[in-house]
Amino acid sequence: MKAKIAILPGDGVGPEIVAEAVKILESVARRFGHDFEMAEHPVGGAAYDRCGDCLPVATLAACKAADAVLLGAVGGPKWDALAPEKRPERRALLTLRAELGLFANLRPAKVWDALQTASPLKDEIVARGIDLLIVRELTGGAYFGEKGRSADRTSAYDVTPYSAHEIERVARVAFDAARRRQDRAASPRPPKVTSVDKANVLETSRLWRETVTALHAAEYADVELDHMYVDNAAMQLVRDPARFDVILTENMFGDILSDEASQITGSIGMLPSASLGASGAGLYEPIHGSAPDIAGKGIANPVATILSAAMLLRHAFGLSGEADAVEQAVANVLAQGLRTPDIAAPGGVQTVSTSELGDAIEAALIKK
Ligand code: IPM
Ligand code: MG
Repeated sequence: MKAKIAILPGDGVGPEIVAEAVKILESVARRFGHDFEMAEHPVGGAAYDRCGDCLPVATLAACKAADAVLLGAVGGPKWDALAPEKRPERRALLTLRAELGLFANLRPAKVWDALQTASPLKDEIVARGIDLLIVRELTGGAYFGEKGRSADRTSAYDVTPYSAHEIERVARVAFDAARRRQDRAASPRPPKVTSVDKANVLETSRLWRETVTALHAAEYADVELDHMYVDNAAMQLVRDPARFDVILTENMFGDILSDEASQITGSIGMLPSASLGASGAGLYEPIHGSAPDIAGKGIANPVATILSAAMLLRHAFGLSGEADAVEQAVANVLAQGLRTPDIAAPGGVQTVSTSELGDAIEAALIKK
């Protein structure tokens, strides 16, 4: 197939890890006979330094014109002093999500066979299997609601608005994903969605629960559904992560729980994400940030971005064979024992650099 992918390296480790993912996409294109047109565009602090805007008009236009977007990471101490609405996080990330209508954020978290010991959880908990998907609402709630300060600046507010329409459309993504995961599962169990809210306190959560329950009854009775308060969910994630299949939740709860979920898998450097809208192919990025402390050292883990490229192939282009091949190549390379420092056992094997790991994954892909 022929497709246009907008490449947004961004800041910190962004350019290094995106370069590895682009290498893999080029390799997939050659091996499977596709034509991917990949052009780079400035975003984040790097764009601010070049043109005074973390999301230049031309970058946004290129993302809208592309069939899919691959993003590295944005932000860093250099731009922390900018006004809140100009900072990379809000101006680049949140605006991109809003402008592209990316209301559903898919964040899979699993423990890879070769990395069981990297999880900080007890062996017997990890042995039960950790393989879950967080579906986070991405364009509503407190991050996008009205915000402000009192005139004397001693009180502040962030409104958390949600409509039934916003809840229903992301719930549908979660239920559909639960069904699809079962189709691909090695040992099928009934698809299950856990909807996470704070309905004992928040009115938006009560609407959330009502809406999810009604949609489930009307269209997804084959999927198991349970509801959990967010504080309990945070606890269950470390106590018994195997109980989760798909977690459906609002924007801020999903932001927090997905960082927690990443850590129980061993390293945030392993977790990809896909942000999807009603139309268009979406945006794909690692869930980790720009990690300015390790930028430019060649030690960042490129796997989260490479797996994001695999999600892009699967979700944006329907190329599931190609996506499987990339994921398998990652598994094979991990099984060979290659590790960047973040996933290396203390005192264990010698580690490899960002590009060495990328090269090894590419070689594993070609060999198949
Ligand atoms: C994430 C990040 C962003 C978010 C920040 C950088 C705005 O933490 O993608 O999880 O909160 O959504
Ligand atoms: Mg986050």
